[in-house]
Amino acid sequence: MSAETAVKQRYSAAATVPEQALCCAIQYDSHYLKILPEEVIRKDYGCGDPSRYLKSGETVLDLGSGAGKICFIAAQVVGPTGRVIGVDMTDAMLEVARRNAPIVAERLGYGNVEFRKARIQDLALDLDALDSELRKNPIADANAFLRAEELAADLRVRRPLIATESIDVVVSNCVLNLVEPSAKQQLFAEIFRVLKKGGRAVISDIVSDEDVPEELQADDRLWSGCISGALREDLFLRAFEQTGFYGLRLLKRDPRAWQTMQGIEFRSITIEAFKGKQGECWERNQAVIYRGPFREVLDDDGHRLRRGDRVAVCDKTFQLYRKAPYAEHFEFIEPNEPIRPEEARPFDCSIVRIRHPRETKGAACHDATNVSKCCDGGNGSCC
Ligand SMILES: C[S@@+](CC[C@H](N)C(=O)[O-])C[C@H]1O[C@@H](n2cnc3c(N)ncnc32)[C@H](O)[C@@H]1O
Repeated sequence: MSAETAVKQRYSAAATVPEQALCCAIQYDSHYLKILPEEVIRKDYGCGDPSRYLKSGETVLDLGSGAGKICFIAAQVVGPTGRVIGVDMTDAMLEVARRNAPIVAERLGYGNVEFRKARIQDLALDLDALDSELRKNPIADANAFLRAEELAADLRVRRPLIATESIDVVVSNCVLNLVEPSAKQQLFAEIFRVLKKGGRAVISDIVSDEDVPEELQADDRLWSGCISGALREDLFLRAFEQTGFYGLRLLKRDPRAWQTMQGIEFRSITIEAFKGKQGECWERNQAVIYRGPFREVLDDDGHRLRRGDRVAVCDKTFQLYRKAPYAEHFEFIEPNEPIRPEEARPFDCSIVRIRHPRETKGAACHDATNVSKCCDGGNGSCC
């Protein structure tokens, strides 16, 4: 049996009868639990709470939404101007979540949650649409199988279940570990694809502190139980880095292991990763000063910044640093004579260059010999 089939069977059963062994104690904000149906609360198989990092108005995608708990909490956090999409591959879980969605919507006074069927490593393929096509044309021979493959490829392109760059925040609670090793790279690439530029992933998952031996990985029960598919904690973060995310942060790391097996600790962590560092670099004479406390830091684009140095950065980096998770760590220095975007020259981000204060002050100030020559009487434009 494949790991994926084992996962489907385990969670189909757990959608019907709650399975205690799959539950992890989590401190949710009790305020958001008040309107949740009892069944949804009992069929909670998460290991963290990514919903507490969401904001009003955001469009959220929950990977492996199960009975819908995180989606129903997120629905309240993002409010009526936001939207929540839960994705799961297990019919029985989708049935529980979809049945409870109208109940939650009625209690909330608005409905902003929907549940869709897909594998989270293949978010373009709408498995409900494929199901309905295959009911009309069942697969009876190899030719039909090949036609079904063509149909799936066509559906991904013509009617993607989750469109490219359509999501503000991808969340997930205890699911990434369940995806087979051969599909994990594609899974990270899919998270990246669906996020808008400037969007972020907030993921809670089980990770290990040491490599998981092959005999544990081969155990279906341990796999579907969120143990053997766990990535080593450093490699979990590295996978986001390698996919092109930046500004990764460990938001929460349980000090105590959830399970220990052969001396290997398995614990819950919650991480945050941003999309949007890709793009061209233009010189607009901006600079930043890293405030500290570390003597030196290295960002995900290779910029090395020494504490207190006035470092020249391109416009893209300047704008990225002005937002989370960086803003609080920097002072921002704009030039006195702004360079319009259409006049900007390419900027070489591969070298660290100090921005001389004279570059910031501009040509008009080069000959200034006293305060009165370049001050405007106190309205803040002193060079
Ligand atoms: C451990 S449960 C977590 C459910 C939910 N996030 C929660 O917090 O209760 C894992 C869920 O992910 C789903 N799942 C596992 N692997 C999946 C995959 N590759 N694609 C889509 N759903 C998957 C399972 O069907 C199950 O509902």
